Amino acid sequence: MLSTCALAGANDPVLQFALTHRTASLFFRADLIFMAKLTVKDLEVRGKRVLVRVDYNVPLEEKDGQMIINDVTRIRETLPTLELLIEKGARIILTSHLGRPNGKREPSLSLRPVAAKLADMLHRPVVFVDDCIGEKAENTANALKPGDILLLENVRYYEEEEANDPAFAGKLATLAEVYVNDAFGAAHRAHASTEGVGRVVAKRGGQCAAGLLMERELKFLGGELENPERPFVVILGGAKVSDKIKVIDHLLERADTLLIGGAMTYTFRLAMGRKIGQSLVEPDRVDVAKAALEKAKSRNVQFLLPVDNIVGTPVATGKLNKKGKPVIGYENPRVNDSLDIPDAEEGMDIGPNTIKAYCDVIPGAQTILWNGPMGVFEDKRFSEGTFAVARAVAGTTQKGAKSIIGGGDTVKALNLTGLTGQVTFVSTGGGASLEFLEGNVLPGVAALSDR
Ligand code: 3PG
Ligand code: MG
Repeated sequence: MLSTCALAGANDPVLQFALTHRTASLFFRADLIFMAKLTVKDLEVRGKRVLVRVDYNVPLEEKDGQMIINDVTRIRETLPTLELLIEKGARIILTSHLGRPNGKREPSLSLRPVAAKLADMLHRPVVFVDDCIGEKAENTANALKPGDILLLENVRYYEEEEANDPAFAGKLATLAEVYVNDAFGAAHRAHASTEGVGRVVAKRGGQCAAGLLMERELKFLGGELENPERPFVVILGGAKVSDKIKVIDHLLERADTLLIGGAMTYTFRLAMGRKIGQSLVEPDRVDVAKAALEKAKSRNVQFLLPVDNIVGTPVATGKLNKKGKPVIGYENPRVNDSLDIPDAEEGMDIGPNTIKAYCDVIPGAQTILWNGPMGVFEDKRFSEGTFAVARAVAGTTQKGAKSIIGGGDTVKALNLTGLTGQVTFVSTGGGASLEFLEGNVLPGVAALSDR
């Protein structure tokens, strides 16, 4: 079954079934599917117009009336694909979304500042057009010479993008002869620029290939984790069991050890009949947490939960955040040694005994996957758990283990420690990496041509 599916075409009814029913893990090894896909290395594109979907959904901030890019990782990671296409003499047309403008021309979500930054980083001009379809975009694309680069305006200024409207996908497709998808971060979205346009290009006999970033992401999150060198230690944190339960379930079939941190902990604690005070929790997920504990036991997977916590007492500050929600402050941070948290307090980080236990386990690993912080690391008082784990992961990597890091917050925390260069692979995908780790086939990958 596996090998048949691996070779199956994008129009294969079984693949379509899996995509529709999101039960891909029952049918596929996502990495095997990918290995059958065309990549940008396979393309002959001299003089051809190539539409490249990138994920330039980067964090922006307004400073003195200008939009400043806070983190260029997603831009930097596309440079190898762009440099290869330049070398091959392609005429390059880049398309991306930025934020969620919901079909409106929201000026603060323009990609114009990204064009300037990309030009800086590539050391060559990048043309920008303030639309992603239509006459102006078409004329500019047609005028490109081999090696020239055009960045189109935010594709989500059109609501047809997220609706995956076929006519809109058709308009995008008129811009180019070949389609490359390097937007791993958006590959879990079946939108016009990530999925629909590939179908149109393929239908008229054109090629649809993965970019080098896409290829790397699928290699590390796919192949390396499907056949990990053991011991394989998975570290999962973050706020919600509901966000991670499918990942937990999928990884319980592969990992030797799972280390749990973050607010997810308190749903597990509740499942174990413990008191959780004011901690974040999902009472409706207690059964799911119990089932995960059972599965770990039956599969003989070491499943570690925090044995202590740093707690704080939440207090109203009377202030509102940017979204108009009340800001909660935390007083009297302290170590709570008990598995029960007093009524007035909230769990904010893993405690020193947990740090010690986790940092004893991590160095034994040959493969490490880490997704989700251990606590509220943005607040110095609750950052030690996350930072200690980061140091242990980096240190273990330096001794020869492979480490794969995913999720926006985890990457942010790792960047704060300055250890990003000391891990094996950092994913550019947030939601996409989670969906992939759940074992799903991503629509943006399924739409690519088979080799
Ligand atoms: C991301 O940052 O998660 C991707 O760019 C996808 O964005 P989205 O969640 O708005 O679809
Ligand atoms: Mg997202």
